[in-house]
This record gives sequence, C-alpha cells and structure tokens, in this order.
Amino acid sequence: MKLLHYLTTAAALSTSTLALDVLLPLYTYPGGTTSLPDWQAAVDAIKANPTIHFYVILNPNNGPTGSGCDLTYGCNRDWTTGIAKLTALPNAQTLGYVYTRYGDTAQRSVAAIKADINNWAAWATAPTWDAAVTANIKVHGIFFDETGPTAATTALYRNLTTYARSTFGARAYATVLNPGGQVDRNAEAALFSYCSAIVLQETCWTSAVSTDCPAGTVPFSYAALKAGSGLPYDAGLRGKTSVLVHQFHGAAPTADNATLLAQLKGVAGLGLHSTYFTSADWSRTTVAPAPVGVFAALLKQARSAVAARSAVPGEGAEGVGFADSTRQWVGKPGWD
Ligand SMILES: *[C@@H]1O[C@H](CO)[C@@H](O)[C@H](O)[C@H]1NC(C)=O
Ligand SMILES: *[C@@H]1O[C@H](CO)[C@@H](O)[C@H](O)[C@H]1NC(C)=O
Repeated sequence: MKLLHYLTTAAALSTSTLALDVLLPLYTYPGGTTSLPDWQAAVDAIKANPTIHFYVILNPNNGPTGSGCDLTYGCNRDWTTGIAKLTALPNAQTLGYVYTRYGDTAQRSVAAIKADINNWAAWATAPTWDAAVTANIKVHGIFFDETGPTAATTALYRNLTTYARSTFGARAYATVLNPGGQVDRNAEAALFSYCSAIVLQETCWTSAVSTDCPAGTVPFSYAALKAGSGLPYDAGLRGKTSVLVHQFHGAAPTADNATLLAQLKGVAGLGLHSTYFTSADWSRTTVAPAPVGVFAALLKQARSAVAARSAVPGEGAEGVGFADSTRQWVGKPGWD
C-alpha cells in the first residue's frame, strides 16, 4: 500500500542526511499545448537533476483562482497541461501560492486564505490539451507568502497550517512560510514547528534598484548570513531555513558561474533547506547568467562539495505533530 510504503521510507529518511534543495518560484504562465520557455526550462532542469528535490511554487493569479483551477469555474487547460508535467516528476513537488498580508486579517481574511487552500487541495485530475488526456494535477503543499514574523500572529499561522494539514489529509505535502526576512526571536520556535521550511531572507544580488530590490536592499552574500539575519537564532533550525535571491546579474561581485558556485557552496555548507537565485525578477527562469538549468547544475556541484545537512525532526516524517511529508518516496513515478 502506498501510504505504508511512504511511511517506511519516511522513517528511513529521518535518520539520514539531506542536501540543499531548490525552492523555485515558477510564477509564470505555463503555455498551452506547448510549454512556454520558462516552464519548459524548469521541467528540463528538474528532469536533468533527479537527485535534487524541487519545491515548485505555482501562482496563476496571486493564488489559485481566476486563471488556474477554480472550484467554481473549473480548470484552465493551459495550467492543467503544465502542472501535469510537473506532477509526473517524482522530484518536483508543487506548492500552491497563498498570500496572507503578514497576518493582518483585516487586509486578508482567514476565510479568504482558507478558500485558497481549499482550491489548491481540490485540484485532482483534469483534462489537458494532450489529446484531452485526463491527468493528475494534484498539488502537494502550500507556500504562505507574506507571513507575519511576530509572536502576535503565530496563532494565526498555527491555525492556517493546521487547516492545510487537515485539508491535504493523507497526501504527501509541505508548507513553506515566507516572511521574506527574519522572524522575531520569540516567534521563531513556534513558526518553525508549523512548517517544512521558512524563507528567512529574500533579497537581491545586485544593489541596483528594481521592483524586487528597493533602495537600501543589502546585496546577498552567504558570508553575511548570521543568526538573526538570514539564519535562525536556533542553529538547530537551519535545516528548515530557505533563502531566496533575485537579480543575480551585473558586476561587483561579478555574477557568473564561479561566484554562484561559491555562494551555493556557502549556503549548502550552512546546512540550509533550500534556495533559488533568479537572474532577473522573481519569475524568470531562462535569463542569463543562471537560467534554471545552469542553477541546478551548479547547486548539484555545490552539494557534492559539502556535507549534507542533518535531517531535521519532522522533515520527511508523517503523522507527528505538525510534521509535513515533504519528500517523495523512492522509485515512484510522480505524485498522487
Ligand atoms: C485559532 O483557532 C482557534 C480554535 O478554532 C480559535 O479559537 C482562535 O481564535 C484562532 N486564532 C486565530 C488567530 O485565528
Ligand atoms: C556555467 O555552468 C554550466 C553548468 O555547469 C555550464 O553548462 C556552462 O557552460 C557554464 N558557463 C560558463 C560560461 O562557463
């Protein structure tokens, strides 16, 4: 039985070590009968790197409704065709985008957030453009954007992650929280206990001002990561920590393979959960110098150069507390 098989493998994983993985914001349109270049590049990179786990964030329209799959209006076949390609890959785990306005429920109600979770969890099978083949389009987790970083909102995120857990049921899933920066010391233990990973830094490589990088953005360097600035205060939580870097281009320091490899070795050496560097804004995967295929190849090199991080309690395990089942079991063709 699949669940039992999964649990057995999860138990094995909990005693092993894990390497730095990819948290890929794939916020672009998938294309129609033929994938658009950004999606195709992502699919190709995932296929070319079966040992790397790719958490792929899907975001049709600031969430699932409108142009993706909708409980009211049904699924758009461009999306079903693209998602079916990802779901078929055992090392691609799709996460549905949900924004939460930093826990300000006057701006974004609990009911609206839960409705988005319901929508994502309801995607199951749907016709695609592939000769109208009905394919598996299930997503396997939620990416909570704009996570409140303070103790004032931890109860909200406990409730939302608990709700996601009950909604996804026995299906393998992950939750990732994105405060986009540090969480307060007195909120850290609680927030980390609710999820698979937290993005503790989302910044830029270049200091040039852009939409992603407002004036005053401090350019990324793994060497500057420290407890309270990109790393958790509790070093034991590094294995659940992600960093995202945008606008990897330009000079000083030059954005090229050598600098990216050095950065990825640094991030892997810190024992972090996952990362991604975009070479332009947050949604582009085909731009030089590090399109997604090059990024993944360099991340693989970095992983083999450093020791894997220790498995964190809960990672890969199912059925304990708020633990998420984030890793696919071995030998299975795709997700269900
Ligand atoms: C969390 O859920 C509990 C139990 O349903 C409820 O009493 C509480 O008000 C919720 N808190 C927030 C902040 O949503
Ligand atoms: C950068 O690294 C990638 C992946 O290893 C490789 O394919 C590409 O040729 C490299 N580019 C340069 C300019 O060395």
